[in-house]
Amino acid sequence: MMPQSSRASKIGLLTVASRAGIDREIAKYPPDQKQAAVMAALRIAQEQNGGWLSVELIEAVAEYLEMPAIAAHEVATFYSMYDLKPVGRHKVCVCTNISCLLNGSSRIMEHLQKKLGVQPGETTAGGKFTLKEVECLGACGGAPMMMVDKTYYENLTPEKVDEILESLD
Ligand code: FES
Repeated sequence: MMPQSSRASKIGLLTVASRAGIDREIAKYPPDQKQAAVMAALRIAQEQNGGWLSVELIEAVAEYLEMPAIAAHEVATFYSMYDLKPVGRHKVCVCTNISCLLNGSSRIMEHLQKKLGVQPGETTAGGKFTLKEVECLGACGGAPMMMVDKTYYENLTPEKVDEILESLD
C-alpha cells in the first residue's frame, strides 16, 4: 500500500498532458519498476509548473509512480536540474565542472553575476532570468558552456554570453 493512501490524492495536480508524458516514460520500464521513471516524471511536472517543483507536485509524482514521497523528494533535491522555488522565464545554467572550470567557466559566471546582478540560485528583479551553477551537462568538448532553458551554448566568451542574453525575450 502507498504511504500517501491515508491522505487526499494529489494526482489531480498533474495535467492530463503531464500524465500522458509520464505514462510514456513508465512504458520504457518493466511494469513493476514504475519508479525508474521518476527523473523524467519530475522533469515533466516541473515543465508543467513554469520550471519549478512544489512539494505537492513532487508528492503527486510519487503517488503516480507508487513510490514513497520521501524518495521523490530526495531525487528532486539532489539533482541541480530541478528547482524547488519559482524561477525566472529563462534558466541560465552554467556548468562549473572540471572541463568547463579549466576553460574559464569562472570568468563566464562572474560576467553573468555582474550583468544580471544576481548570485547563482537567484532570479533577476523583473523575473526574466534565474542564474544557476550546474554539474557537467555532457558537452565538455565545448567548454566553457551553459544551457539556457533547453539550448546548449558552447565555447563561451563574455561577448557571446551578452549576445545570447540579448536574443532572449
Ligand atoms: S564539464 Fe562542463 S559540460 Fe562537462
